[in-house]
Amino acid sequence: NDKKYIIFYVMYNDQSPAHSQSISATKNPIQVGSNVTLNSQTNVSTGVWMLADMGIIVFISSGNVMIDMDWSDRVTYNPNTSSLTIRSLQVEDSGMYILEAFNLFRANLTLSVQVPISNVTLTARETNLVEFNDTAVLMCSVSKGTSLSYVWMKGSSVVTAGGGVQFSNGGATLTIAMVTRYDKGPFKCNVSNGISHEISAPVHLNISCEFSQDNVSANNGPSNVTMTTMPMMHIHRTGTNITLMCSAESKPEATIQWMFDGMYLNQSGPQLKLERVAESNSGSYTCLFHNTVTSRFASASEMIMVLDPLASVVVNHTGGPAILHKSFTMHCEVVGSVDRIWWWKNDNLIYADNTTDFSMGNKTLTLNPVQKSDNGNYKCQAFNYVSNMTSSPFMVEVNYGPYMPTIMGPNVAKTGDNVTLSCHASSHPPSTYKWFFNGSNVANMSKYYTPPLTKDMSGKYVCEAYNNVTGMNSTAYTMLTVVASMNPAIEGHHYNLTCNVTGPADHVYWMKDGEPLHENSSTVISMHNKTVSFNPLAYTDTGYYKCKAINAVGNMTSPPHMLLVNFGPQKPIIYGPAYAETGSTAVFNCSAKSMPPSNFTWWFNRSEVANTSMLTTGPLYLNMSGEYICMAHNSVTGKNSSNSMMLTVVEAITSVMVQNSTIPINNENFTLTCEVTGPYDKIYWMKDNMYLNMNTSMEKANMSYHIQNNMLHLTPVTLYNDGAYQCVAANKAAHHSSPPYMLLVNYGPLNVKILTPDPIIFGSPVSLKCYADSRPECDFYWFVNNQTVPEITGSELTFTTLQGGYWNYTCKARNPVTNITMYKTKTFTIGHASALIPSQGSLMLMGLFALSAAVLFD
Ligand SMILES: *[C@@H]1O[C@H](CO)[C@@H](O)[C@H](O)[C@H]1NC(C)=O
Ligand SMILES: *[C@@H]1O[C@H](CO)[C@@H](O)[C@H](O)[C@H]1NC(C)=O
Ligand SMILES: *[C@@H]1O[C@H](CO)[C@@H](O)[C@H](O)[C@H]1NC(C)=O
Ligand SMILES: *[C@@H]1O[C@H](CO)[C@@H](O)[C@H](O)[C@H]1NC(C)=O
Ligand SMILES: *[C@@H]1O[C@H](CO)[C@@H](O)[C@H](O)[C@H]1NC(C)=O
Ligand SMILES: *[C@@H]1O[C@H](CO)[C@@H](O)[C@H](O)[C@H]1NC(C)=O
Ligand SMILES: *[C@@H]1O[C@H](CO)[C@@H](O)[C@H](O)[C@H]1NC(C)=O
Ligand SMILES: *[C@@H]1O[C@H](CO)[C@@H](O)[C@H](O)[C@H]1NC(C)=O
Ligand SMILES: *[C@@H]1O[C@H](CO)[C@@H](O)[C@H](O)[C@H]1NC(C)=O
Ligand SMILES: *[C@@H]1O[C@H](CO)[C@@H](O)[C@H](O)[C@H]1NC(C)=O
Ligand SMILES: *[C@@H]1O[C@H](CO)[C@@H](O)[C@H](O)[C@H]1NC(C)=O
Repeated sequence: NDKKYIIFYVMYNDQSPAHSQSISATKNPIQVGSNVTLNSQTNVSTGVWMLADMGIIVFISSGNVMIDMDWSDRVTYNPNTSSLTIRSLQVEDSGMYILEAFNLFRANLTLSVQVPISNVTLTARETNLVEFNDTAVLMCSVSKGTSLSYVWMKGSSVVTAGGGVQFSNGGATLTIAMVTRYDKGPFKCNVSNGISHEISAPVHLNISCEFSQDNVSANNGPSNVTMTTMPMMHIHRTGTNITLMCSAESKPEATIQWMFDGMYLNQSGPQLKLERVAESNSGSYTCLFHNTVTSRFASASEMIMVLDPLASVVVNHTGGPAILHKSFTMHCEVVGSVDRIWWWKNDNLIYADNTTDFSMGNKTLTLNPVQKSDNGNYKCQAFNYVSNMTSSPFMVEVNYGPYMPTIMGPNVAKTGDNVTLSCHASSHPPSTYKWFFNGSNVANMSKYYTPPLTKDMSGKYVCEAYNNVTGMNSTAYTMLTVVASMNPAIEGHHYNLTCNVTGPADHVYWMKDGEPLHENSSTVISMHNKTVSFNPLAYTDTGYYKCKAINAVGNMTSPPHMLLVNFGPQKPIIYGPAYAETGSTAVFNCSAKSMPPSNFTWWFNRSEVANTSMLTTGPLYLNMSGEYICMAHNSVTGKNSSNSMMLTVVEAITSVMVQNSTIPINNENFTLTCEVTGPYDKIYWMKDNMYLNMNTSMEKANMSYHIQNNMLHLTPVTLYNDGAYQCVAANKAAHHSSPPYMLLVNYGPLNVKILTPDPIIFGSPVSLKCYADSRPECDFYWFVNNQTVPEITGSELTFTTLQGGYWNYTCKARNPVTNITMYKTKTFTIGHASALIPSQGSLMLMGLFALSAAVLFD
């Protein structure tokens, strides 16, 4: 840590003995921007180089060297000589450099970095002065330079201070109070610093004599001179009109002379009109007032700058075309003085990024590396104070490739075939292609059409793609194998079979499929039976042929020869739908009798839509109605045959639902509605997967219903109607079934019964169960001797026998949907001393009971 070292060093130094040591600089004072080396007399092994007030530059510790971060890019320390080199000196680098060898010595050198002096200008506040009255003020300025010292000259002698002569502003201003006629000059100032000096141009003062008090009091001026410019600005566009106006206070009135860059213009009067100004009108305009009575002069000046509008802006480029991954530079060529340049790509302002660089005040735009996304129209827009102008677009097309080519073509072909090999490589601009076989150039385009193939044309075919803009090429190859081809047997053509016999044969016989071959109008055996000619060949001639040669010594039979007759294709047969719904796909299958099997292509609206026997359309639209043509092609017979099918696309039915609006109750009317989304031709109904006949007489006599539009009316609905109902909406293309609607007719209660256990045992609890045929289940209520038993609902009632007499137990069954209520009463007659009373959890068995069976009746 630098800070710790500094503290350490200061404490140590306080006790260090001083040895006389010194530092030398390669140059001092020295010009800004140059390099300096500070050398030490003695080598330092532990110590620091520092700049007073700025801190440590280098820390040296037993061979380790640490350079402060602020300096590291401009400083080199040489450990062999302990010298310090500082590059690109700045004025701020001036100061005392100290080399401290801890505990040994401390040496210093004050380095002065200076800017060379340029453009020394001497101006007088007023050049027309009155003797004994006015004060002359002369100011000396430079546009550049540091550490300036001034020497003033009047004629050939040096001006010194004293007696009304004063220097101020570090010597840059000379004031002479109460000028005399001897102070006319010429005055010059000589400005110097350690590295340069320059002398100004001379200035003359015009000293006039003093006038009497009378004249002075009556006449005065000119003074308070002002100049105004119309329009009120300093920079004007070429071709505009400018008016300069001057005024002054003067008595008597002063004459006016106009000057331009120190030259008199033949122009008097308070206004100077400049019409249709040009750049040459730029300069300093002065109006000089002269009061002939007071003999005094006064003036005012303005700088006027006239600027041409930009004349042209053009984008151009250097180097070759734009190539992917390389660098590409565009220039904005501007005629006229320019302050600022912007670049646009496809009308968006371009900013610098890691692949886009501006330089030369945005005059050049470099794309490095070029990317594919750099394609576009580039414009540059130049601005100056009076105008801006945009170039016409410059089109950048990124050239690339060729990438590795892909080759299309067969890998196997028969002798005599012509094949086409085609080659393509991604490239901009498109590549040129060459084909090579066995080292020789066989084609100069992307496709190579072979001549009729021979066996020795098997091998490697190389395609070379070349992009003449990127200068790059790329190759790929394909292997081709040429196999021998036989003359195929084709139906309708002429065909011969020949029996090759070696040795003398007395007779030759022919067999087909094991049977002797007979001649007919199209099968002729000739050439001493050695040849069978088929003319024309029929596909029934397909079979195994043998020939048998006989002579006196014996006979010999050839191995069987399979004759396969190629034929067709016959007219294709197409299977497929005539109607289909939008959004569905249609599948067509095409087949044709053919040997060998044909290749198929499908056509619609004159374009090929498939190259297989099966055509599966995409999701259908109404405009895909029309004729679908299947074409079969036999590559051996070379024949084609086609057939077609009309497809009509109809709008789809997208949903079918069965809906009810009321609850089905036995013997009431009930209606099911078929809700269909999409146009349909008809609706029909299914019940339990069976067609629901519209003719009711065909159904069970107890069913009564009718169909009206999309509604099925059950009049009335009965239990016979229970089942799963579906409605089916049909158009020409499809039948769409709804999900099943389960119809369960609500009915009852019917047939209310009270079931009792058998036998009833006195003293034991007795359960009565009420039963009713009902959908849905009934709610049950019980009454004993017509008294409500409020606590007891539900189908079961349990009680214990208690007392003799007649007991009426009544069950009330109520269907909550049909709202029908039925009652059933059961009467128990029980001998004395015993009874049946309702048994409750809280009731106790009371008294003794005789063992006797109750007589029950309904
Ligand atoms: C300063 O040193 C650098 C690096 O050694 C060199 O490139 C440069 O030209 C030198 N500058 C001057 C003004 O000598
Ligand atoms: C600089 O060195 C001189 C002698 O070479 C010495 O008199 C002076 O005190 C030193 N100044 C500092 C600040 O070390
Ligand atoms: C020289 O200095 C004068 C006054 O400061 C200034 O008007 C002029 O533009 C300068 N010329 C150059 C070339 O710097
Ligand atoms: C001389 O200077 C005084 C004030 O300093 C001024 O009032 C007087 O008018 C001046 N005389 C001339 C002739 O300029
Ligand atoms: C100079 O003129 C301006 C207007 O022209 C005026 O306001 C100003 O008071 C004058 N100054 C003197 C010292 O006369
Ligand atoms: C400039 O002055 C000329 C001559 O008076 C005149 O014809 C022209 O219209 C003026 N131009 C403008 C822009 O005022
Ligand atoms: C573009 O630059 C080329 C040379 O780099 C030059 O020959 C050509 O004239 C320029 N085109 C335009 C329109 O400036
Ligand atoms: C250069 O272009 C950028 C925008 O792309 C702009 O912000 C900048 O001001 C321009 N600089 C100059 C000198 O024209
Ligand atoms: C350029 O910057 C982008 C993000 O701004 C970054 O994804 C890309 O890797 C950078 N490319 C290079 C070559 O640095
Ligand atoms: C460029 O100049 C046109 C007139 O030629 C002006 O309408 C436009 O505002 C200027 N654009 C900018 C950005 O200054
Ligand atoms: C094959 O190409 C040759 C010319 O190279 C041509 O004469 C011949 O007709 C072609 N054969 C076929 C079957 O296309």
